[in-house]
Amino acid sequence: MSATHQLRCTNCGARIATEAVRSDFRCPECNGLYEVIYPWSEGAGPWNAGAGSANPASSPSANSSAIPSSTSSANPPSEVRLPNPGGMRHLWQERRTSTMPVDQSGVWRFRELLPIVRDVERVVTLREGNTPLYEMPRSAELAGVDWLLAKHQGMNPTGSFKDTGMTAALSVAVERGFQWVACASTGNTSAAMAAYAARAGLRCIVFIPEGKIAWGKLSQSMDYGALTVQLKTDFDGCLKLLTKLVQQFPIYLLNSVNPYRLEGQKTPAMEIVEQMEWQVPEHLVVPGGNLGNSSALGKGFLEMKHLGLIQRVPRISVIQAQGANPLYRWFGDENREMQPVKAETRATAIRIGNPASWRKASRVIEETGGWCEQVSEQEIALAKAEIGAEGVGCEPASAVTLAGLKKLVAAGRVAREERVVLVLTGHTLKDPQYTIDYHRGELLTAAEIAGATEAERVRHAALRKPPLVLEADESVVLRALEERMATVNAAGQQATPGTTK
Ligand code: F0G
Repeated sequence: MSATHQLRCTNCGARIATEAVRSDFRCPECNGLYEVIYPWSEGAGPWNAGAGSANPASSPSANSSAIPSSTSSANPPSEVRLPNPGGMRHLWQERRTSTMPVDQSGVWRFRELLPIVRDVERVVTLREGNTPLYEMPRSAELAGVDWLLAKHQGMNPTGSFKDTGMTAALSVAVERGFQWVACASTGNTSAAMAAYAARAGLRCIVFIPEGKIAWGKLSQSMDYGALTVQLKTDFDGCLKLLTKLVQQFPIYLLNSVNPYRLEGQKTPAMEIVEQMEWQVPEHLVVPGGNLGNSSALGKGFLEMKHLGLIQRVPRISVIQAQGANPLYRWFGDENREMQPVKAETRATAIRIGNPASWRKASRVIEETGGWCEQVSEQEIALAKAEIGAEGVGCEPASAVTLAGLKKLVAAGRVAREERVVLVLTGHTLKDPQYTIDYHRGELLTAAEIAGATEAERVRHAALRKPPLVLEADESVVLRALEERMATVNAAGQQATPGTTK
């Protein structure tokens, strides 16, 4: 049994040794998902109790000699004593000036809280994490709060938050001796997996829904050398199929059902409080798709509180696209039954109707006192343009956070004086077609525009910046610029919220 960590089913509580987990990362008793626990985790209890017998189905093959004997020791770990909170904070800060790759990673810098590999110096890292926390004054004004911050996870090496999870889970795959890794994806997981697999010299297979992923993401998996399989189904169909395949081939599954992914994805929680000088925001707003990320961030904050690194946790709210809103519906359903939906949204990253981690995410929302909200296609497009107009930019799925925050404020769920952090999950260059269509006025349908309020229509008109196509003639260009500048200056005089500062 691992000295440093075990897996606990988040549904029935059964604990197993890390080597015993099935290749689909599901509990054999109840089909629940696992979480990684450490001797210091809340409710960890006596360290050796409760872990079932090993049935190493998650190894490359039952008789493969490529599997390292792994972290097996039945003794209670002596090395698990953590430094005190002050010591850890100091250590994490100090590592930022180190030249060692593992210290330069914004995930492994916090390695005391994710001791999941034996040899931390052999982890696969692209120096992920350490992403900026931007002030968003114009978006704050639009949403109706005094102070708004954006944690931009799109500033990771492959342009999305997935890198933080991939460095963790792929490093585990390497340590376990796997040659092949795979994921089903709406595009970002596959881009991240392909890059990290290439760095590690592993082979990888990507399953993506045909025609429903942004070109930027698809091009990344090809660039990094993945075997890319476009299936004539949606994300949910891809994941279902892959879950069956990994039970037949020695392939390591890298979707967020893999609990090690979430260990990496919890580290932005540490970064956020570190960047706020160890103050905790009142509210964190996260997009919801397969619901792994909100679960991971919740785990990060709750663990920090448990360890005394922070005194309280932020409320964590999850925002879904209206056309892909199973968790939103679940909260509204008095019988509390999860009903998968046929997902449809232009925010293709979160076009997911049957989210694997919905139980974990719903608990995070309930435990932290947050909400689940849904936003329309028109609201997403507007919020994305507003984030872009602040010089920050993000992909459509990330923009649901600002759109959702506006609704939470309007409903009185977030007060003006609360410090809110939006988690922007992907870079604007991931889906340039969406942005171009928006600015050319080709994105939203007449019905969607008709559903907007008057104020929203005014904002759309002010934000849209289609390119001017002109003759290459000095006087023509001069006249056009004069006209434009006069219009922009006149609009500026009216001081529409969010356009000037
Ligand atoms: N934002 C972006 C940019 C994403 O790519 C995803 C998920 C999410 C938000 C939602 O996060 O699934 O943890 O709730 N993308 C996955 C993928 C599904 O395959 O790239 P979640």
